[in-house]
Amino acid sequence: MEEKLLHIKNNALSMVLQAKNTKELDEVKLQLLGRSGSLTQAFKLIGKVPEEEKAEYGRLINETKQIVEDALQSAFDNFKKQKIKYQSSLDVTDPAILPPLGHLHPVTQAIEEITTIFERIGFTRVRYPEIDYDWYAFEALNFPENHPARDDWETFFIKEKPDLKKGPQVLIPHTSNGQIRELEKKEFPIKMLNIAKTYRRQDDISHVPMFHQFETLVIGKDISIVHLKGTLDYFAKSYFGPDRVTRIRPYHFQFTEPSFEVDITCDVCKGKGCKLCKEGWLELGGAGMVHPNVLRATGVDPDTYSGFASGFGVERVLMMKDGIKIDDVRIIYSPKLDFLEQF
Ligand code: DAH
Repeated sequence: MEEKLLHIKNNALSMVLQAKNTKELDEVKLQLLGRSGSLTQAFKLIGKVPEEEKAEYGRLINETKQIVEDALQSAFDNFKKQKIKYQSSLDVTDPAILPPLGHLHPVTQAIEEITTIFERIGFTRVRYPEIDYDWYAFEALNFPENHPARDDWETFFIKEKPDLKKGPQVLIPHTSNGQIRELEKKEFPIKMLNIAKTYRRQDDISHVPMFHQFETLVIGKDISIVHLKGTLDYFAKSYFGPDRVTRIRPYHFQFTEPSFEVDITCDVCKGKGCKLCKEGWLELGGAGMVHPNVLRATGVDPDTYSGFASGFGVERVLMMKDGIKIDDVRIIYSPKLDFLEQF
């Protein structure tokens, strides 16, 4: 009897060891401990064992059962562990864990969008110095020296010896220096989009000392206000939405004649007038027909060439876009992730 039990035990253990997965192990368990399993059968034999050997047989068979059950359990555990290991290291169908990714700053996104809109109608984006001479930022733009209109530009000056012809250097207070830089090249016709950082001594709810502008300049033969208005409307509809229109209002800039301020219909009331805009219009920026003095300053004949220019703030158009409610421009340059992550 003892030998028979030993045989059953060895057989059982080798079956457990040979099982290749949990399914096979389930099978083995059934063959050993199921209703007609070999161990179950061995239990039933106890009735046939002589009385004096019964106690010993009982002890042995219980011991055998315990050993087999332990072996089964640890084999099940092993398969379970292997499965976890296999899944975590090798399952190529598992979705990848994405590392936290950043994105472009909302102002950069706006610059890219503005660029695409103008490129679509043949403008070329250019870049010019953001520290430039007074000549480019003011003088050649028809601001005579000491002209009071310069005060509006609240300019930062660089403490360097001024250039004899071009004057002191400034942190550009607007992107209009690009008009002079572009005209100097004398490559006509011109369809320029100049986007740059601009600087002014201002810091409050609607101003930051460093901001961005985008400047258009179109020079050719027979360019009129109609081209200007068409371009402004095209931009407004592309950037703000097809139901928005612009209007131009007479204004004064030194470097354009006539000059205009450009307004766009308010997105809240669509031009009817509401609490936010009062009369239905929001101010976008400046524009006008390039002043003959500006052309002359760069040696371009105003009788042959004419054109228009416009200059808008990037942060300003971003803040005026549908659905973006920014009531303090300074938040755009704050490191507040909960703000930035919305874009
Ligand atoms: N440079 C002006 C400013 O910063 C904006 C501007 C007005 C640009 C009229 C233009 C223009 O090109 O034609 O306020």
